[in-house]
Amino acid sequence: MSYPALPKPSAAIRNSTPIEYFESPEALLEKASHERFAVVFCDGKVYSLWKSLIDALCRETPVITIAGGEESKTLPSLRRLWKKLWQYKVDKGQKVLVIGGGSTLDVSGFAAATWKRGVPFVSVPTSLIAQIDAAFGGKVGINFRQGKNLLGTYAHPESIWILPAFLTTLDERSLKAGWVEGYKHALLEGGELWEEIQATSFSALPSTLILQKLVSVKLRYVQEDPYEEKGIRQALNLGHTLGHIWESLSQREEKPLLHGEAVAMGLVQEAFVSVQMGLLPEKVWETILSKLKGEKVLSPLPSFTWKQWEKLLSQDKKIREGRVFIPLLLEVGRVALQAIPVERLKKVVRMYPSWLHA
Ligand SMILES: NC(=O)c1ccc[n+]([C@@H]2O[C@H](COP(=O)([O-])OP(=O)(O)OC[C@H]3O[C@@H](n4cnc5c(N)ncnc54)[C@H](O)[C@@H]3O)[C@@H](O)[C@H]2O)c1
Repeated sequence: MSYPALPKPSAAIRNSTPIEYFESPEALLEKASHERFAVVFCDGKVYSLWKSLIDALCRETPVITIAGGEESKTLPSLRRLWKKLWQYKVDKGQKVLVIGGGSTLDVSGFAAATWKRGVPFVSVPTSLIAQIDAAFGGKVGINFRQGKNLLGTYAHPESIWILPAFLTTLDERSLKAGWVEGYKHALLEGGELWEEIQATSFSALPSTLILQKLVSVKLRYVQEDPYEEKGIRQALNLGHTLGHIWESLSQREEKPLLHGEAVAMGLVQEAFVSVQMGLLPEKVWETILSKLKGEKVLSPLPSFTWKQWEKLLSQDKKIREGRVFIPLLLEVGRVALQAIPVERLKKVVRMYPSWLHA
C-alpha cells in the first residue's frame, strides 16, 4: 500500500523562536552582558575547552557541568539538574542558560521545562547536530530504559544563540556525524541544497550560511506541524526509526554509535526499503550509499537479537497487523508516510552488512 507524498512546507518561516548568529565570541559576550541567568547548565567538555569564554559569559552565575553523550539523557542526570534548580531556588522569574550539544540541550531543556511547570531558558548549541537540529523545534527529553527520547515534552527556548566558532573544537567523528543530520535535511529539501551537501565534505566546517539553510528546512517542517499531529513533521524522522534502534542497541558496546552515525545507517537502510517497494529508483539509493560510505559514517550493526530489536521498534512505533508507519523517500525532496511490514525492515537489515564491503 502506498500513500501520497507529504506536502512540502511553505517557504516562509513565521513566529519562530529568535535565533541569533554571532561571528565572534566577543559578539556573543556582548549579547549575554544584557542578560542575567540563575544557573548555567553546560556540557563539561565544552566548559573545559571554552572555559574563559564561558566564565566571562556566566560572570557570577553558578555553572553546572554535564557529561555529554547519551549518558546525560537519563533519569539520574535529570534528577541532578532538578536538584540544582532546587538548590539555587530558581523560580519562574529567572532564566537558565544551557550550553552544549544535543544531549545537553535535550536533558537541560527538559529539566527547565518541568521545573515549577517551566522556567525560561536560552540555548547555546555547540555541536553541529545541535546547531542545525537539536536546538530547534522545541523537543526536549531523555531516554528511558533502552528507548530513545521516551520521556519528554515540547518546550521552546526563549532564544537560541549560535556561535559557529564552537564547531572548531568538535572532533572529526562528531563533525561528520553532525553532517548526517544535515544530509537528511538536504534529502528532504532536494534541489540546490541537496546538490550542495552532496558536494560537501563531511570533514569541513560549515559556513554560517549553510547552517542557516539547514536549520530553515527543519523550522519549516516544524511550523507546519509543531506537535506532530498532521504527519508532516514526521518527515524529519527519515532514517530515525532504524537509526534510533541502532543507537540504543550500541549503548552497551565499548564504542557506542554517535547519533548521526546511527541515523546514517537508518537512512541508507530505510532508503532501500523504498527501493524494494518500488517507490525510489535504485540509482538514488546508490548515490546515498556511496556518499555515506565515502564519508566513512556507516558502521557495522551492533550485536543484537531480533527479540531486542522488535522490542525497541514496538516502543518507538505502533505495530499494527505486522506493519509500522514510517516516512520513506519517494525521490530526493519527496517523502511519504508508508505502512511497512516489519518483515521487510528485517530483510533490509539482513542485507546491510554486505553493502559495507561491496
Ligand atoms: N531535540 C531534538 O529535536 C533533537 C534533534 C536531533 C538530535 N537530538 C539529540 O541530540 C543528541 C545528539 O547530539 P550531539 O551529537 O550534539 O550529542 P552530544 O551533546 O552528546 O555531543 C556529542 C559530543 O560532542 C561534545 N561536544 C559538544 N560540543 C562540542 C564542542 N564545541 N567542542 C568539542 N566537543 C563538543 C560533547 O561533549 C559530546 O562528547 C542525541 O541524543 C539526539 O537524540 C535531539
